Amino acid sequence: MLRFLTAGESHGPALVAILDGVPAGLPLLAAHIDTELKRRQQGYGRGGRMKIEQDRVEILSGVRHGRTLGSPIAMRIANRDWANWQKAMAIEPIDLDDAERKRVTRPRPGHADLAGALKLDADDARDVLERASARETTARVAVGAVCRTFLSAFGVEVASHTVALGSAALPPGREMTWEEIVAAEGSALRCADRDVEQKMIEEIDRAMSSRDSVGGAFQVVARGVPAGLGSHRHWDLRLNARLAAALCSIQSIKAIAVGDGVEAASRMGSEFHDEIHYDKKTRRFYRRTNHAGGIEGGITNGEEIRLRVYVKPLSTLPKALHSVDLKSKQEFQAQVERTDVSAIAAAGVVGEAMVAFVMAESFLEKFGGDSMKETTRNHRGYLQQLQDY
Ligand SMILES: Cc1cc2nc3c(=O)[nH]c(=O)nc-3n(C[C@H](O)[C@H](O)[C@H](O)COP(=O)(O)O)c2cc1C
Repeated sequence: MLRFLTAGESHGPALVAILDGVPAGLPLLAAHIDTELKRRQQGYGRGGRMKIEQDRVEILSGVRHGRTLGSPIAMRIANRDWANWQKAMAIEPIDLDDAERKRVTRPRPGHADLAGALKLDADDARDVLERASARETTARVAVGAVCRTFLSAFGVEVASHTVALGSAALPPGREMTWEEIVAAEGSALRCADRDVEQKMIEEIDRAMSSRDSVGGAFQVVARGVPAGLGSHRHWDLRLNARLAAALCSIQSIKAIAVGDGVEAASRMGSEFHDEIHYDKKTRRFYRRTNHAGGIEGGITNGEEIRLRVYVKPLSTLPKALHSVDLKSKQEFQAQVERTDVSAIAAAGVVGEAMVAFVMAESFLEKFGGDSMKETTRNHRGYLQQLQDY
């Protein structure tokens, strides 16, 4: 069973993650993980923190001489801003005034501030927001990087690109190929269409000048996935449901569509369903369309997995929204913390990490194995079985 936990506050000393269940013998270097951490820090529209944080992972356990041991992999990513927060986030009791405590008493609409303060009976929303913050996704990206490394040993790859930002979007029905998506790597917003990307940049500039934020959408694609991962047996085993839960667990993600799941509501069955063909040469079933996004009945069907993920506008606005002070109950403008205008490119990288985790989890459910040798043998045998079908 593959599982992980993360811990750490946004302005605490560090974020940590423990990933358990990776087979022994997987080549793994901290540099693999750092590459993904760096990708999470890119993108037009990010705020000042990205300049402060240059994330680097320290692997604390589970790896020896560049190979996994099969034991839990513990990782630590230092918060470089900690130096400025040692008092406000001190672990030991310490006497501070409200300003030194960086107390937050005017909850920001759209954040966990108010709901969390009520839930925890906290008089300082910082007790909540420090953990609710998307800084936590750094630890998830580290976990996802290990999962990607594992998947790549079996030819499974995961990528993402930005498909919409405010009113700028790829035209309806325009599906980018894997090659187009990968070619967008390194561009300002990782959008696979340069003209649309330029419009997205203008949307961000417009939001910035009106002291606002703007929502968007990205698509995650996984390729090289064999037919047969996931299960039709139970609600919690269906792969589409597990991917949806994993993606919706990311801060600011409000909806996901599997394949053309949203458009499906207005289509005829004959237009929507992907007709089945067979290639006698490669002895493989295939589809000429992929409206299903690679999953039917909760099981992968051998086509690319395509998931569209919808992101709300970020909640902290330089133009603060209306709020109420937790203590005095007086109406004020919400408090402003340092913020991004759009984190869409970073959200895509976090989406990839969560998809990589779920894919690796379902992969290990199907093929098992305590060592990479064993998993590889099981995987190879199954691919042969598919060919012989
Ligand atoms: C990568 C990433 C970066 C984010 N950065 C910010 C930010 O700078 N400012 C902000 O207000 N929200 C940011 N968010 C979103 C908030 O963390 C999120 O909206 C908040 O925790 C409430 O959670 P919810 O939107 O899931 O309800 C970011 C989200 C992601 C995925």
